[in-house]
Amino acid sequence: MKLLVIGSGGREHALAWRLARTPGVQKIFVAPGNAGTAREHEMENLPLTDPSALADFAARENIRLTVVGPEAPLAAGIVNLFRERGLKIFGPTREAAQLESSKDFAKRFMLRHKIPTARFATFSERAAAHAHVDREGAPIVIKADGLAAGKGVVVATSLPEAHAAIDRMLPPAGQPQAGAGDAPRVVIEEFLVGEEASFIVMVDGRNVLPLASSQDHKRIGDGDSGPNTGGMGAYSPAPVVTPEVHARAMREIILPTVRGMAADGMPYSGFLYAGLMVGKDGSVKTVEFNCRLGDPETQPIMMRLKSDLLHLIEQALSGRLNLVEASWDRRVALGVVLAAANYPDRPRLGDPIGGLPKGSEDSHVFHAGTAEQEGRIVTAGGRVLCVTTLSDNIRQAQKRAYDLIAGIHFDGMQYRRDIGHRAANR
Ligand code: AMP
Ligand code: GLY
Repeated sequence: MKLLVIGSGGREHALAWRLARTPGVQKIFVAPGNAGTAREHEMENLPLTDPSALADFAARENIRLTVVGPEAPLAAGIVNLFRERGLKIFGPTREAAQLESSKDFAKRFMLRHKIPTARFATFSERAAAHAHVDREGAPIVIKADGLAAGKGVVVATSLPEAHAAIDRMLPPAGQPQAGAGDAPRVVIEEFLVGEEASFIVMVDGRNVLPLASSQDHKRIGDGDSGPNTGGMGAYSPAPVVTPEVHARAMREIILPTVRGMAADGMPYSGFLYAGLMVGKDGSVKTVEFNCRLGDPETQPIMMRLKSDLLHLIEQALSGRLNLVEASWDRRVALGVVLAAANYPDRPRLGDPIGGLPKGSEDSHVFHAGTAEQEGRIVTAGGRVLCVTTLSDNIRQAQKRAYDLIAGIHFDGMQYRRDIGHRAANR
């Protein structure tokens, strides 16, 4: 049995690693993959990114099913294409992926279906956006509408910062746009207070199977300082997701979303990620939706998943998620991202990586921005590696991860020393 995983990050390495543990799986193609997936026994990198070339490959190689990691191919309609060709693929259609690909779509959807989220207004004109911010005051959140790899959001703590963000995201009045397409828009949101958590589920169009909870660390620096990144580390489970918070997230956010998408004629299937803001009073609000698994949340989540992932996905593809449950390792999994010099601005590429440890039953170094160059592994992206461990408690998982990191080196390596601090200090 052969499988195809689309993407090249730590999330895709972890997905392929978990799928490789399924009995009967001979080979997992990872397109395009990274140096980590190139070196795993059961995996083979496939240097393809074009959706129709991938569909041709899947048909020719008799791929049992395809799993899509990142949002860009989903937003471009890779699921629509595979389905038209009768190929099995797990992920939302282009229409359903708008929950992530357009902030404005997501906000209007939530408003229509009474799903709790920050108050918002959408603008394509600078003057109106500036006036809105002056009325509302700071702190306030400015978001570019459209996919921005986690970098299109400014949490402005002062009015000048908010105005500067609007100027950056919207063109001056009367200025012609380069190229065709929709005019740029910003979504301006109320600032939400609370603790964030990642709530990720599998959806089959109608039924929902929640995965283990997790928490990301979006800022580059210790103590959540500095600019936002794609995510600097994650762990699972997240204690902020108590059984009560879990129940509210399902009842108030996930189930109405799945029902609402079906009612609106775009049934959702695939992984669905709700970024939660959990208030002190236990209330939950939706910070954002992603139409995919989180990265780096997937790395600890896959480390804890004991069920057969292929079976879960196949049940989802046949609309039977109501018949399955996932079982989880009771231990804590924690992943620390090692990032390249200059990340998140313009990461430096090509630095040789040394000291990579071998994986074990309870630790694995998942690759992201890595490539092989003349037999050496070098940095090839902003987030380079995710050192992931499984231990009895959060402090032990931290200690093991940081002990492993002590042996790994590349020039300019940056990482946070405090991944898991919220759970450790509870
Ligand atoms: P997003 O791309 O929408 O996930 O935003 C990135 C990060 O910005 C989130 O993980 C939050 O930390 C922060 N953020 C986004 N929206 C809000 C909001 N309305 N209130 C407070 N923080 C927010
Ligand atoms: N770790 C956040 C995300 O995947 O969007």
